[in-house]
Amino acid sequence: MKKTKFKKKILCIGAGYVGAPSMVMIACKCPDYKVTVVDINPQRIAAWNSGQLPVYEPGLEKIVNKTRGRNLFFSTDIENQIAENDIIFVCVNTPTKTFGAGAGQAADLQYWEKTARQILEYSQSSKIVIEKSTLPIKTALAMERILTSGKGDITFDVLSNPEFMAEGTAMNDLENPDRVLIGSRETKSGLAAREELVEIYSRWVPAEKIITSNIWSAELSKLVANAFLAQRVSSINSISALCEKADADISEVARAVGTDSRIGSKFLRAGIGFGGSCFKKDILNLVYLCRFYSLPEVADYWESVVKINEYQQDRFIANVLQSMFNTLAGKKICVLGFAFKADTADTRESPAINITRKLLAEHAEVVISDPKALDNAAIDLDGAEGQISYVEDPYRAAGGCHALVIMTDWDLYRKLDYGKIYRSMVKPAFIFDGRNIIDHRKCFEIGFNVFPIGKPPLTRL
Ligand code: UDX
Repeated sequence: MKKTKFKKKILCIGAGYVGAPSMVMIACKCPDYKVTVVDINPQRIAAWNSGQLPVYEPGLEKIVNKTRGRNLFFSTDIENQIAENDIIFVCVNTPTKTFGAGAGQAADLQYWEKTARQILEYSQSSKIVIEKSTLPIKTALAMERILTSGKGDITFDVLSNPEFMAEGTAMNDLENPDRVLIGSRETKSGLAAREELVEIYSRWVPAEKIITSNIWSAELSKLVANAFLAQRVSSINSISALCEKADADISEVARAVGTDSRIGSKFLRAGIGFGGSCFKKDILNLVYLCRFYSLPEVADYWESVVKINEYQQDRFIANVLQSMFNTLAGKKICVLGFAFKADTADTRESPAINITRKLLAEHAEVVISDPKALDNAAIDLDGAEGQISYVEDPYRAAGGCHALVIMTDWDLYRKLDYGKIYRSMVKPAFIFDGRNIIDHRKCFEIGFNVFPIGKPPLTRL
């Protein structure tokens, strides 16, 4: 058989939400490059090699089917792959530390450091190592120190190329990014390594959208971009509390404010708060860095973004309790949506976890419904005390319930037949719309007592 010659060989260590989709896009756009994704978890690699991918993203499966086996490969053979590839993306997870110094705030870098040591151990030639996971600033420096601690002649150039894609729209974000950011050392070899990476992205990203910078700016920009996005959500949520007191409507306020082109209209949807694997983790990381560099005022400022997010959830549950006559014991509550946002099965840091636990603490019986995330919901609530059931069909889930709480902005929930649902529920029936996605007036006319976020409730009580 003729051996195909590839122009470049790229390796990605870490087959999670960031690494795998990014590599799928590179493999699709650069058919003459061989792209290999490795992971220590054999089940995850087996899933990537199967018909049941471990990550749900609209459009992902189609591209995997086109590229897998052609120039995209998934493997567990980390050692040989490090030796074989000259360009290595590091996409291992960096969760918040749960132990020791910085617990609850700093990033846990153990997987990342193990990977750096493995790269050093198995490399037989010089390499470009690219940080793609979100990391605390100056991690590249630690990476360089580990990589230069061994092998005499072999050199390593470390680049920072943070990923800005969002879940649910990952493939579109990867194909049409607002920008690609590449940070490097400004030395001769650093700049040459930067150029190698620019060349890869230039295959499909217009030159003006490829931003290059010094390596520390690139690392910091990722944390700051996420902090700014989360800050917008907390800002609008803080105002939603005021709207509820002042009879203003948060959607009208957001529209009036967001039409100022300097402010912009995106990320001003009030709701139950932000979730997802990045926002809280990255802000806490930023807070930790600020404290580390003795900037307590800056740390407190950013920490308040996380505090408002928690406050919004506390407010929501207090409202449910108070509106339902101060007792939820024995009442059946249907949680509509468990994913942290629509179009993903991901439940990491989903506000639904916290809200469900609080409902259970009030001795409510909870029925959870979600079109994609029920398996993850069951993992998140493993060990939680109380009565929980999982029902995918929202009509069946709502039957016999006292209240619906909408946690995820799935389009499906906009289109439900709320008349039919109302007829199957215990009266008086309640809807707490944690995402402001349904037609509140219509539901009120059907008979529900409706509690939106940041708008006057529509109730007959
Ligand atoms: C985010 C960033 O958008 C992305 O650039 C980065 O690479 C990773 O983190 P993601 O976590 O996938 O992406 O989701 P995103 O769409 O940003 O939403 C985050 C959370 O904020 C969700 O829980 C969402 O429901 C919530 N949100 C977002 C709001 O409550 N209101 C809004 O107006 C927007």
